[in-house]
Amino acid sequence: MNVLIIGSGAREHAMGWKISQSPALGKLYFAPGNPGTANLGVNLSLSAGDFPGIGEAALEHGIGLLLVGPEGPLVEGIADYFSREEKLKHIRVIGPKKSGARLEGSKDFAKEFLTRHHIPTARYASFHKEETEAGCRYLETLRPPYVLKADGLAAGKGVVILESLDEAKAALREMTAGKFGKAGDVVVIEEFLKGIELSVFVVTDGKEYVILPEAKDYKRIGHNDTGLNTGGMGAVSPVPFADAGFMQKVEQRIIQPTIRGIQEDQLDYTGFIFFGLINCGGDPKVIEYNVRMGDPETEAVMLRIESDFLELMNAAATGKLASYQLRTAPLVATTVMAVSQGYPGDFEKGKVISGYDKMDGACLFHAGTRMESGQLTTSGGRVLAVSATGQSRDEALAICYQNLNLISYEGKYFRKDIGFDL
Ligand code: AMP
Ligand code: GLY
Repeated sequence: MNVLIIGSGAREHAMGWKISQSPALGKLYFAPGNPGTANLGVNLSLSAGDFPGIGEAALEHGIGLLLVGPEGPLVEGIADYFSREEKLKHIRVIGPKKSGARLEGSKDFAKEFLTRHHIPTARYASFHKEETEAGCRYLETLRPPYVLKADGLAAGKGVVILESLDEAKAALREMTAGKFGKAGDVVVIEEFLKGIELSVFVVTDGKEYVILPEAKDYKRIGHNDTGLNTGGMGAVSPVPFADAGFMQKVEQRIIQPTIRGIQEDQLDYTGFIFFGLINCGGDPKVIEYNVRMGDPETEAVMLRIESDFLELMNAAATGKLASYQLRTAPLVATTVMAVSQGYPGDFEKGKVISGYDKMDGACLFHAGTRMESGQLTTSGGRVLAVSATGQSRDEALAICYQNLNLISYEGKYFRKDIGFDL
């Protein structure tokens, strides 16, 4: 079977790496992919939002399975497009339709869903931009810190947490005045939850589900989780506190009611659900839903999956998950992201990357790279993910760090404390 993966990051590179190990794979394509994915398959120079272009390419290359990496095209309806177009209907799509993608595309919708289906989450209220003053009065009834979330997609920047009431009111006014564009037309204000976060993933056909290895990601730029939020600086799987007892609570209180809710609400859903959870004194609560895999969690999770990932995707796309048994490696997988100096603020691009050919015992997944006249250069804030497995977290991390030290480019930065809190 020929497979087309939509996206251009290290997440898509890692999924492609895993799928390329499947004996069931014919040819592998990426749209648009990156210099790393070019070693696994063919990069098609199409943007993830060009549905007609992707549809044409899928026909031309005899694609049987379309795997959508990022949330953007899902929220914009790529799965709906493929099911609507007569000539594309036969292609299996991993990724929900627009109706289901709202679980990520609208935080207000997600909170209503969680409440309607009695799934544990922070208490909240939503305010339309015309209700900004009511939102300010609501803030007065809460205790700090204050959590404000722009309803729509805001490239991971739409959540702010503030210590003082005045700052919170000012942030609310900025959001509803258009700081995040239309994403801030509605703002969710919610109770602050204290605890340690983790990411839990399932693959579902909307009825049955398979739980993938969980992971913890490290979002802040600085050591000890300080400084600005990034797209993710590293990840570890498994998560020690997610033991059998905790995961049983996650499954019974969160995963099962979510799947039942998807059915009750008739959301047409085939794909991943990423539960952003927080462990509040032993009880899991939902911070957010995402309708795709996590980045950089995927770059660790893929290394722990022993099963044929393409077979799993096909089982999801054909409603055969009920009897599916996932095999996972009893190893620790870690990933550490190398970024550009200055990120997540301003940074320079076009720095020549060398030394990656000397890597040993680790996987290299490209995030923000370009091939310029035969030379690999940096082209983004997050540049490369280095992933490894070991018998212990320390062993896996040591392999990541040894290999990261072999890679050079001007302004290379990475966190040296991934997993510090576990
Ligand atoms: P999100 O964009 O929804 O992933 O939120 C970004 C980050 O904000 C999360 O990963 C949490 O660290 C934090 N956060 C979101 N909601 C809450 C909450 N209710 N309480 C505490 N922290 C939160
Ligand atoms: N690692 C968090 C995310 O992918 O949103």
